[in-house]
Amino acid sequence: METNKFLWGGATAANQVEGAYQEGGRGLSNIDLLPFGEYRLSVAQGDMPYSDVPAGAYYPSHEAIDFYHTYKEDIRLLADVGMRAYRFSISWSRIYPTGLESKPNEEGLRFYESVIEELLKYNIEPIVTISHFDVPKGLMDAFESWKSREMVAMYEKYAMTLFERFKGKVKYWITFNEINMILHKPFTGAGISIKENENRDEVIYNAAHYEMVASALATKRLREVVPDAHIGAMLAAGDYYPYSSSPEDVREAQKANQETFFFLDVQSRGEYPRWALNKFQKSGIHIDITDEDKKLLKENTVDYISFSYYASRTSKADTTGVDTNTGNAAGGVVNPYLKRSEWGWMIDPLGLRIVMNSIWDRYQKPLFLVENGLGARDVLEEDDAIHDDYRIAYLKEHIDAIQTTMVEDGIPLLGFTMWSAIDLVSSSGGEMGKRYGLIYVDKDDNGEGTLRRIKKDSYHWFKEFLASSNI
Ligand code: BG6
Repeated sequence: METNKFLWGGATAANQVEGAYQEGGRGLSNIDLLPFGEYRLSVAQGDMPYSDVPAGAYYPSHEAIDFYHTYKEDIRLLADVGMRAYRFSISWSRIYPTGLESKPNEEGLRFYESVIEELLKYNIEPIVTISHFDVPKGLMDAFESWKSREMVAMYEKYAMTLFERFKGKVKYWITFNEINMILHKPFTGAGISIKENENRDEVIYNAAHYEMVASALATKRLREVVPDAHIGAMLAAGDYYPYSSSPEDVREAQKANQETFFFLDVQSRGEYPRWALNKFQKSGIHIDITDEDKKLLKENTVDYISFSYYASRTSKADTTGVDTNTGNAAGGVVNPYLKRSEWGWMIDPLGLRIVMNSIWDRYQKPLFLVENGLGARDVLEEDDAIHDDYRIAYLKEHIDAIQTTMVEDGIPLLGFTMWSAIDLVSSSGGEMGKRYGLIYVDKDDNGEGTLRRIKKDSYHWFKEFLASSNI
């Protein structure tokens, strides 16, 4: 697949920007049930049922940054930066409020149609994630979400509705955001909580299997309906480095990398890796893989591989006495050679070149960096300035790494949509104070603020960069 322009742009996700959680006929989704504060992590990890959260909790997705009402103004700002692409996700429960309906919600479709038309008006390429940490609550109630194979048909119906409605307008689709997040945060990633009598690995790997089958089915359908569109997998990427050259640490890193690439092995090669099949068998984990699934997976692999990259990871066999507080769901230990963000995430631009090489070496499919950026606390000065030179430095270093990888290593990259186009609710913490945007949104962790949009220094920097970029 070829593109005639490198897709420089920005990214967001429905649950982190839209708000209006009960408007336009929308139903509730998993992230609407994820509170801010002390219970968030346990619910996200599937350890605590969302229904056990005490009354009175604050749910940041309900209003988010109100993009549902401000999208025209927000898209105008993105166009003014010079963005050529905007990656966003569709809220499943805006289209099928409970997920179970046989007919879609026209008002929801019309909303996204307007968003897409607004983008196309400015020549901004829409990149659509079909499910970005997003499951209608109705499907959680009916089937316990991705624990059930029923979800495959529900997803197929939803995806087909989008393909039919937006054909000719949307050329790039992504089936599931950070599909491997299900390993760490199954409620966030897939709307599932683990019960006491359940085998965690069995539940998670079965749910992942159904998602990958659904992804392959959507790929098949897209090719039937819109043969010239492209569809990709999406991985939360970052190589695991061995902490030392001891074979134990090297092996630990190798296992962690295999677990991460497991998803791409299935979605891009169309086959389960042997280590995984062996592991399932040896540990008595039954995965509901049928012959029909195997055929579907093999015949419908993705066109491109999209990925997020924030940090590399580091593995150590024996973690006694070592700092394991990496601040990130991907785990591992702290890498003493790297700087860290205010949230403890490693900052490693060279790691981006490394992971692009790792992915390319395994799959030889075009890559698409659909998330990368710095979560930081910004200070709004009295004159409405935000001097986020740290974010500019981060983006510059990572863009340099991309360019080197493309030029020196010859690896094809379709584009880069930075995270995030505009400040939004953080996925892990649910806070607003962990800001990624080029555009500041006046709102705090407790939901207070005017929601006013203010351009940061990084906005002006990115605009100049895009105007002068020759790729
Ligand atoms: C990715 C997600 O995990 O990283 C985004 O796809 C998320 O939804 C982003 O916001 C940054 O993570 P966080 O937890 O800092 O918001």
